[in-house]
Amino acid sequence: MELLRRKVIDEGIVLGQGVLKVDSFLNHQMDPVLMREIGREFTRRFNGEEITKVLTIESSGIAPGIMTALELDVPLIFARKQKSLTLTEDIYVEKVYSFTKKETNEITVSKKFIAPGERVLIVDDFLANGEAAFGLARIVEQAGGSVAGIGIVIEKSFQPGHRLLQEAGYRVESLVRIASLTEGQIAFVEDDEV
Ligand code: G4P
Ligand code: NA
Ligand code: NA
Repeated sequence: MELLRRKVIDEGIVLGQGVLKVDSFLNHQMDPVLMREIGREFTRRFNGEEITKVLTIESSGIAPGIMTALELDVPLIFARKQKSLTLTEDIYVEKVYSFTKKETNEITVSKKFIAPGERVLIVDDFLANGEAAFGLARIVEQAGGSVAGIGIVIEKSFQPGHRLLQEAGYRVESLVRIASLTEGQIAFVEDDEV
């Protein structure tokens, strides 16, 4: 997706430890025109999947998620993150460990928002190790729904998330794939590479 790739080149800042800072258009300030185009691109890629809901995780997944849901004409659900939890029976809970932040969050979704048989598209801003996407997929499956696909805005292809999700049988579509972030440089996976 050329518009997104341009944004990453022009505004992305490489931090140490393989982290890309994109707070001028995705993680803090958000670019609504870009988000609209992201929603259109996911809708184009997942055309025919009969999606009934979009599921993301707060907070940075919400903008691409809502624009995708708008384009697909279905609701968006965002999973909530919390450190500790009062157990209740009306929510799905999954543990998600973040290697980037070295912390475990419990993510939750109210049972009333995913019905059995639902076809759910998972959307998130970043894919690294895939922990968040796996947690969201487990929630969909707990609910008796199925994962129609996983749409990622920026994939860090040097981390194993894409491969692990694919091996687990999920279809992953990433709008930009980053091969490396070494020495302050952003290298992209070329479109003809796997
Ligand atoms: P994983 O789910 O793929 O395993 O990723 P990981 O635990 O490593 O990611 C934890 C958080 O860090 C997520 O945000 C994720 O979006 C973000 N993240 C991972 N790598 C990068 C990166 O290179 N650049 C940026 N900007 N973010 C990255 P989060 O904690 O859920 O925060 P938010 O959604 O509230 O922004
Ligand atoms: Na994030
Ligand atoms: Na995120």
